[in-house]
This record gives sequence, C-alpha cells and structure tokens, in this order.
Amino acid sequence: MSNLSVFSKEAEADHPIHELLRRRWSPRAFNGEPVDDARLRSLFEAARWAPSSSNQQPWRFIFGRQGDETYEKIFQTLVDFNQKWAVTAPVLILSVGRKVMNDKEDINESYRYDVGQAVAHLSIQAMEEGLYVHQMGGFDQAMAVRLFNIPAMYKPLTVIAIGYIGDPSVLPEKLEVLEYRKRERFPASGFVFSGQFGQEPGLY
Ligand SMILES: Cc1cc2nc3c(=O)[nH]c(=O)nc-3n(C[C@H](O)[C@H](O)[C@H](O)COP(=O)(O)O)c2cc1C
Repeated sequence: MSNLSVFSKEAEADHPIHELLRRRWSPRAFNGEPVDDARLRSLFEAARWAPSSSNQQPWRFIFGRQGDETYEKIFQTLVDFNQKWAVTAPVLILSVGRKVMNDKEDINESYRYDVGQAVAHLSIQAMEEGLYVHQMGGFDQAMAVRLFNIPAMYKPLTVIAIGYIGDPSVLPEKLEVLEYRKRERFPASGFVFSGQFGQEPGLY
C-alpha cells in the first residue's frame, strides 16, 4: 500500500483555490494502468479550448502509449534522470509549438506561452479524470526533430508524462524520496505588484 495515502501533497494555499489546482502535483511514480482513449481525448480537448494569441492555436502533440513505437521514440529523447522515472508512465506526449503565424512566415511571439497554457488546461483536465501529469524540459530537442520529422517552423517544447499515480517504492531510492518532499512556493506578495514593478499592491 502506498505511503502516499498518509502523505498529502496538496498545496498549502494561503487563499482559497479550486480543489483540482490544490491537489495537482507532478509525481514521478505511475501505477502502470493504461489510460483509455476517451480520457486521452478529453485531455486534448481541454488543450484545444485554451486561449491563444490571435487564436493561432500553435500547439501540436505527438503521443505514444507504453509499448508502442511512438512511446519508445519519445522515451529515447529523455535525459537519463527523466528516463529513470518516466519509464513508469503509460503515456508520453511530446508537445510541439508552431513558431510562425498560420498564413505567413511572421514569428508568433506567443507560441511558447500559448502551448504552455494549453498544457496547463490539459493538466487540470487530467486531475478531473483522476490522472496526473509531469512535464519535462529535460529531453533532446534535436533528436525529437529527427525522430519525428518535425518541420523547421515547429519546435519541440516539452515531454509530458501522464498516468495514474503509483507507489513511490517503484522508483529508485533517490527519486522515491522526492515523492514525499513538501511542495513549496514563493509568497504571492513577492510577485504581485501594483503601481510600479516591485511595488506592494496592499493586497496581502
Ligand atoms: C517546463 C517544465 C519543465 C520541467 N522539466 C522537468 C524535468 O525535466 N524533470 C523533472 O523531473 N521535472 C520537471 N518539471 C517538473 C517541475 O520540477 C515541477 O513542476 C516543479 O518542481 C513544481 O512541482 P509540482 O508540479 O509538483 O507542483 C518541469 C516542469 C515544467 C513546467
């Protein structure tokens, strides 16, 4: 039985937030249970309805399931540290951003922001489906471009592990310990300003 049942990773929020936001965190241990097609469709649907600059919708996702060739290829791109734990995830997704506007070659300055926002939507929908998401920047972008023939106007941005939460004991010891680590954040008073950058808003 997982020790997680007696260990809360819930955000110690200073102010009320949505339950799904409070409960979301990025586990490294998944339980191996596959994710069904309907749930996956809901995750991508949540991403689909994210806002984006000029409604450009610059997100693209390549997904693989454990055991298939796409999964293997995404897995190969991961740095060693991430391979050690992502091996437990039943689904891996490569997020890709379109760098240019749809009909022109103009740079879309917002593409990374927009893809990140779509993934945020996906990750909260995942919580609603009982699934957890762990995003990774630690992967070889050039290898991803090669393995998936990604055109020059697109850029691989992250790899996203998805699955049902698992027992931390499936992980190598050093990573197991991290599953129990308290989640911490800077106080909002340090990043919310009014009047001038850096100026206290008198909100806290
Ligand atoms: C863009 C991005 C890249 C990340 N890269 C990695 C990574 O390569 N490996 C990893 O184990 N976690 C990675 N993370 C997870 C963060 O470390 C994690 O979200 C952060 O510590 C906050 O923890 P929480 O999501 O559990 O609240 C990444 C998260 C994001 C959003």
